Amino acid sequence: MKILVVGGAGYIGSHMVKRFGQLGVDVVTLDNLVGGYRDAVTHGEFVHGDIADRTLLDRLFSEHRFDVVMHFASYIEVGESVRDPAKYYQNNVANTLTLLEAMKDHGVLKFIFSSTAATFGEPQYVPIDEAHPQSPINPYGQSKLMIEKILADFDQAYGMKSVCLRYFNAAGADPDGQIGERHNPETHLVPLILQAASGRREAISVFGRDYDTDDGTCVRDYIHVMDLAEAHWLGVQRLVDGGGSASFNLGNGQGFSVQAVIDAAKRVTGREIKLIDAPRRDGDPARLVADSTAARQQLGWQPQYADLDTIIKHAWDWERKHFN
Ligand SMILES: NC(=O)c1ccc[n+]([C@@H]2O[C@H](COP(=O)([O-])OP(=O)(O)OC[C@H]3O[C@@H](n4cnc5c(N)ncnc54)[C@H](O)[C@@H]3O)[C@@H](O)[C@H]2O)c1
Repeated sequence: MKILVVGGAGYIGSHMVKRFGQLGVDVVTLDNLVGGYRDAVTHGEFVHGDIADRTLLDRLFSEHRFDVVMHFASYIEVGESVRDPAKYYQNNVANTLTLLEAMKDHGVLKFIFSSTAATFGEPQYVPIDEAHPQSPINPYGQSKLMIEKILADFDQAYGMKSVCLRYFNAAGADPDGQIGERHNPETHLVPLILQAASGRREAISVFGRDYDTDDGTCVRDYIHVMDLAEAHWLGVQRLVDGGGSASFNLGNGQGFSVQAVIDAAKRVTGREIKLIDAPRRDGDPARLVADSTAARQQLGWQPQYADLDTIIKHAWDWERKHFN
């Protein structure tokens, strides 16, 4: 089996590529390194390039017979997408369409897509299952939903089968400590807290303590990055076995408040973490928790690292090894 991993030098993609190395699956990674790192790609061939480059895509699809394409490459910051929607629609929609067209033209008709909880918008109920209405409240979420819709049409018209995986909050790192999360700028809670614990950051802001939750801080669903990688592998097997297109919500089904994550980080690191109380941010709902029953039942997905302290320990091991 041979897989094209687009965006495989980034946080989640590089963990997927490492998992493919463990599984002995042949991989080509395509990444323009705008947000990724060459040294994060630990297995297979690496091609430095952009999905907007149709000539490069034609060459890759002519040189290799890919069974599946996995697409992690996009811009990922909600706030930036509000300030600069053109950047997000160009890369996340137009460039992705270039990739999908190249696949269609070369007869590669199996696709795994990194979608997001942000396609749901304000939750009408939690936990959020696949039947929840999708009504994104920012261009980032819109851009991902547009691709989900394009994929439905590509299935109908060209028989392209896809699995859309809607991650909630990816967290943690490779349990071996070889790779981890290195966004720049970093906007995700766990690495921000750990940067404060290690002294790379002065303090961490807590946005709102007056939500309708047990301790007043927002509740989110953190899923270990290796558990996400496993879901992708199960998605590959579904498609290779002739399964139809589907979408799955991926989270560990357990919400943790911002304060609970901070408390766990203090426990795991044994360090003080300086907090700054800040007002609520626009568009931050009180609770975002996934219902992943469908992924468990239909893909046979079973998260191995659902425990918050384990997720934080792996991220902390990476933070200390890489930055101290
Ligand atoms: N991290 C999360 O918690 C989370 C949650 C939900 C969804 N997602 C989705 O998962 C995917 C991966 O997220 P991540 O956190 O690993 O992000 P990341 O920024 O670490 O990885 C994205 C990678 O794609 C590459 N890339 C971007 N545009 C490209 C292009 N035009 N051509 C080639 N390469 C390009 C970047 O260089 C980077 O290596 C994204 O699509 C994101 O929207 C992430």
